[in-house]
Parts: sequence; structure tokens; C-alpha cells
Amino acid sequence: MRLTDEQLSTYARDGFLVLPDVFSADDVAAMDARLPALFGERCPENFRERSSDVVRTAMGLHLRDDLFADLVRDPRLVEPATQITGHDDLYVQQVKVNAKEAFTGEQWQWHYDFATHHHEDGVPEPLALNMHIFLDDVTEFNGPLVFIPGSHLDGPAPTALDTVSTSYPLWTVGNDVVRPLAERGGLVAPKGAPGTVLIFGDTMVHGSSANMSPWARRIFSLILNPVSNHQTTMNRPDHQHHRDFAPVRMLQSA
Ligand code: SIN
Ligand code: MN
Repeated sequence: MRLTDEQLSTYARDGFLVLPDVFSADDVAAMDARLPALFGERCPENFRERSSDVVRTAMGLHLRDDLFADLVRDPRLVEPATQITGHDDLYVQQVKVNAKEAFTGEQWQWHYDFATHHHEDGVPEPLALNMHIFLDDVTEFNGPLVFIPGSHLDGPAPTALDTVSTSYPLWTVGNDVVRPLAERGGLVAPKGAPGTVLIFGDTMVHGSSANMSPWARRIFSLILNPVSNHQTTMNRPDHQHHRDFAPVRMLQSA
């Protein structure tokens, strides 16, 4: 699936891109069907919320389930990533579903992903892309991701490690940094039906609030990073940053 020049310009300007109707209802139903078994496992790949036993993030999915093994090679994800990064050789850095279940899904603080990739994993440059697929309707009510358009343009902002706000340690961006960026670029929360693809880069400042609605907000996320930019320190477990730097081989049909 090739992006148009207009889509590439939108991505370059805003730092993110929303693509409705990329995956069909049947595709999403097939992914959905795999989740109860995966979420039911008690394993280090399943992170739970700070305030409950509910799964917040289920990682390493392509090594745990054959459908997700195929999905990380899907041209609808891999081809746009090669276009945006300008790299044909990308490796699978992280594969997860962020669940944000009804009533219990907790916040993600303001951050950008490169801070963690750089500080924890020694990734040299902010080249990785985060490719999301909405598995539920993402609305203003169920804790959508919130972006600061254009926040990717200034390069990496200052960050600090936050190990207390949620169950997942995160290098976060302080309010003093968020304020001027948001006053300049505004805030946007991309919404959409299941099957929507959302792409954003490693220095895009984003966060999301708790899900107080009765509807889940599950999102599949694949991080692809150029092989030439792979991690240089191996502190975190494999499921948080995979160590197989072999270029992902695109499936021939989707
Ligand atoms: C993330 O920033 O990695 C997760 C945000 C979310 O799922 O709301
Ligand atoms: Mn993030």
C-alpha cells in the first residue's frame, strides 16, 4: 500500500498520518479473536495496570501468535514505513496491543517514544515509526492518543524518567515543555473506526487520558526501525525491544 505525495507531505508537516479503512472488519475480527487467549496469559509480556490486574499492554505478539506474525509483515504497514523512513531494511522493534479497557484503562503521560528508545536501548537516531491499527472505535470518550502537531520538528525535547504515574516506566515530557509546544501546534486526537491506521514518528509528543467510558479502546502497535539504526544496549527484555535485527520481509499479498 503506497502513500501518495499528499499523504507524505501531511506526515512531514504534522508528524502523524491517519488512514481510514485500511484493514477490513473481517481483518479486525480475526485479530480480536486472538486477544482473549493472549491477554489471559500470566507472563512478563503482559503488563497490568497500576491500580488493577487488567492487562494494559500485551507485548511480543508476533512471537506468541501466528496471525500477528503475519501482521508485522503486512504490506499495509511495512510499505508506508519504508516510504516514510526512506529505508528498505526495517526490523521489528516492538509489537503490542495497548488495551485501555472500559472504565479501567489508565493514562499515558506526555512523552515521545525516542526518549525511551534512546535512553533505555541506545537507539542512535529518532527514525523509528509507530504503526497503529485501531481495533475498536476510537472516540473522544475512550482515551484516544493526543498529539501535538509539529512537535516533531524541533528535535528531541528534554525528558525525565517517570516510574510512578503508571505501571509502565516512561521517559516523559514535563508540563513546562508541553505548554509552549501545544500553544503553537494545538492538540489533535485522531479518532476513527476499527481498521483505521495511524502512523507517527519517534519525536512526536503524545499522551492519552484514562478511559472512563464503558467502551474499550484497544490499539495494535508495530514499531519498525531501520536496521542501520538498531539498538546498541540490551538492557530491556526482548519483548520491549526485539533483538532480531533481520529486515522484515513483506508478505506478498494482503
Ligand atoms: C504509547 O504512547 O505507546 C501508548 C499510548 C496509548 O496507548 O494511549
Ligand atoms: Mn508512545
